[in-house]
Amino acid sequence: MKFPAAVLIAAASLTAAEKANQPAAPTYAKEVSRIVQKNCEGCHRPGQIGPFSLTNYKEVSAFKSEIKRVVEARIMPPWSAVPGHGEFQNERRMKAEDIATLAKWVDAGAPLGNAKDLPAQIKYNDDWKFGKPDLIFTPTEAFELASGGADEYRCFVIPSGLTQDRYIRAMEVRPGNRKVVHHVRVFADKTGQARKLDDADPKPGFDCSLGMASPYKRISIGGWAPGLTPELADADTGTYFPKESDVVIEIHYHRNGLNEKDKSTLGVWLQPGDVKHVQKSIIVANIGIKIPAGVEHHEEKAKYTLTKDIIATAALPHMHLLGNEMLMTATLPDGTVKELVWAKPYDFNWQTTYRFKDPMRLPKGTRIDVTAYYNNSASNPKNPNNPLKDIRWGEGTNEEMLVGFLSYIDVD
Ligand code: HEC
Repeated sequence: MKFPAAVLIAAASLTAAEKANQPAAPTYAKEVSRIVQKNCEGCHRPGQIGPFSLTNYKEVSAFKSEIKRVVEARIMPPWSAVPGHGEFQNERRMKAEDIATLAKWVDAGAPLGNAKDLPAQIKYNDDWKFGKPDLIFTPTEAFELASGGADEYRCFVIPSGLTQDRYIRAMEVRPGNRKVVHHVRVFADKTGQARKLDDADPKPGFDCSLGMASPYKRISIGGWAPGLTPELADADTGTYFPKESDVVIEIHYHRNGLNEKDKSTLGVWLQPGDVKHVQKSIIVANIGIKIPAGVEHHEEKAKYTLTKDIIATAALPHMHLLGNEMLMTATLPDGTVKELVWAKPYDFNWQTTYRFKDPMRLPKGTRIDVTAYYNNSASNPKNPNNPLKDIRWGEGTNEEMLVGFLSYIDVD
């Protein structure tokens, strides 16, 4: 940016007294270290998914310009829910005043300040969050991920060993190699199909880069995305984990240009017996979507009317690479509209289960509306189709989906 000469002269000619009256610039030791600890360090520290560490003055000041750019553009921390449209337990959004403090610090030349003001380093508990899990699932062999090519989705199949139906109280996914494990979804399979696919594939697991649909009947039992920590369900609530099933650990690998190995582990804590509330989910989808080539902001909708009273606990918007916005609302029979989540800009690489701060009671007859926008033009850098083409519903990441998942428990 070019400043008029007069402004430059004025800035240069502040008197010593005027300078003394300026509020002191923030320092790393006092303000910035604490902001970075709170908002960035969870992912940007050794062994975590962030591509570099941000745990001390040297590391943070080395990235100062990039940090200013990504926090001002709200690229980091990754979080798509628009504020004011729902409140979430797992919110990762930064406070505007913290962004301003970081920017001011960078503009002031990133001063360390007085080292005495530094906060204590955070000690992380890298052991199992709730002690030793009841069940631990690990693939027998490490998977070798080649350096190049598109992202890879790999599914590892392990017998659950369950002889009775059980309910999951908590789950912890421990990525083996965080440099490449982008996110993980976990399913149970009672059909034996997943195991057959694994047996037919010579490498550990099988290739499941299919987007959403699947060659076996999946029962979702959990997952992990960077920045989300395991949580303990209430004593009377759990996720159904069927007997005689296989566990399918689906890992989305993001290549980093090197040959890497990964062996990720899953820990499961079970409820001792049956539960009063089973975690369930409703799928609101539209398989008739048609997204014309070249259109930047194409709207599609899906809706579903509740056939019973529920207590909604979380929402998960799902589209592929053309999706750039999704709004989910609930319209009660009396006409009241409740916003569930508005993900904008939606990011395929940062799909998130938005857990409601306050679970929401929705009566029978409530309509769930899902409105999605897609950018199928060349202005979308993630558009996989060149030349551009009309896109319809499909499983591949170069096709599209419109799905709003709503997690709920039944009303007693
Ligand atoms: C939930 C995990 C997570 C959190 C929290 C997080 N980051 Fe990141 N960050 C990543 C990952 C992963 C990448 C690699 C790119 C990607 O996958 O989006 C990244 C990339 C970056 C980059 C490079 C981006 C680019 O465009 O080249 C910067 C700079 C950055 N992070 C800074 C920060 C700062 C500053 C914070 C805190 C204000 C922060 N990150 C919080 C996970 C995180």
